[in-house]
Amino acid sequence: MSNGLEDVVAAETVLSDVDGLAGRLIIRGQPLEALAGRSNYEAVLSLLWDGFFPDLPTDLRQPLADARMRVFELLRADLHLVADRPTFDAMRALMALLPDGTELDSALLLAAAPGVLLPALLRLRDGEEALSPDSSLSHATDMLRMVSGDAPGAELARALDTYLVTVADHGLNASTFAARVVASTEAGLTSSVLAALGALKGPLHGGAPGPVLDMLDAIGRPENAERWIGAQLAEGERLMGFGHRIYRVRDPRADALKAALQRIGKGGAVDTGRLALAATVEAAALRALKQHKPDRPLDTNVEFYTALLLEALGFPRDSFTAVFAAGRVGGWIAHAKEQAATGRLIRPKSRYVGPMPKVAA
Ligand code: ACO
Repeated sequence: MSNGLEDVVAAETVLSDVDGLAGRLIIRGQPLEALAGRSNYEAVLSLLWDGFFPDLPTDLRQPLADARMRVFELLRADLHLVADRPTFDAMRALMALLPDGTELDSALLLAAAPGVLLPALLRLRDGEEALSPDSSLSHATDMLRMVSGDAPGAELARALDTYLVTVADHGLNASTFAARVVASTEAGLTSSVLAALGALKGPLHGGAPGPVLDMLDAIGRPENAERWIGAQLAEGERLMGFGHRIYRVRDPRADALKAALQRIGKGGAVDTGRLALAATVEAAALRALKQHKPDRPLDTNVEFYTALLLEALGFPRDSFTAVFAAGRVGGWIAHAKEQAATGRLIRPKSRYVGPMPKVAA
């Protein structure tokens, strides 16, 4: 028995493979490097959903755009009910109102929802009106437009696409497992996605990138990095954006996102001081972690560069986990369908270590 179920194989999947020793991620037969920065979110949705819906169109760009319009129409009146709540919680509450089916229509609404609801909630929070989606745009372009109010440049849209593609699926991570457990009970896709959203929120999973920026702010200047990091580790704190359950080497997603950041950096969209600070902090953290845990390789994970990229794209840090959900939702849906197709309820056992009833003398 291990509390974290490490090394337990709990599902067979055709969706993605995470090789923690080689630092390799394969999504349906394709290495991440062939998809990130080269494909777009709609195409990766098609890849992930292939074979799980009998009526899946070959090109999902228009169906997903139409679904964005429908999500906005369905939920716009409810936005104000939750607009004062933390963004992630508000988005989750609204997504709970979507139909709980298992067919393609439900899947499209769920996949579209974070890309519509997050921008709407951010705008309402800033005292502005939520913008209606534009069904002529790609998912990433429209999402950025609905946040800022302006059509983003092609490079920025490509950077968000790279992010959404990079995080679309990643083996049996905590949120995906949660989605599969719920799907195994024959509940609908919305129920599965809600469970996954709950699991994603925690700082050990999808809640880390906001705190990565808090760490950079606390460090402030490159020359403070070593001292600050040493003090954190001495206090038993974890460094956000480092370490992973599966990877024993660098998370390949970190490199995909770093490349996207460098691309938009050339166009001037990234604060160069911020980048220099991040580079120093990363190097200092890796050195310190090596000393701190010589027997446990701890390297940079996806969240470190997620934080820098999403900040450069104009997302506030308390919305990063919701942007993560906008990408991972495609994977959750595919896994939920794959699990449901096995027809097998997930129901492990626990070992009772509590008191036994007293036997009467
Ligand atoms: N900083 C400092 N120490 C760490 C870190 C870290 N980031 N990560 C692991 N360690 C230490 C642990 O304290 C532990 O020490 P111990 O044996 O003395 O208790 C040892 O390394 C092994 O850690 P585990 O807890 O076994 O590693 P696990 O596989 O459970 O952790 C996790 C993976 C949760 C991601 C961890 O590395 C962590 O907390 N990282 C920081 C949060 C983070 O970046 N989360 C995002 C992960 S990526 C994602 O989910 C999308």
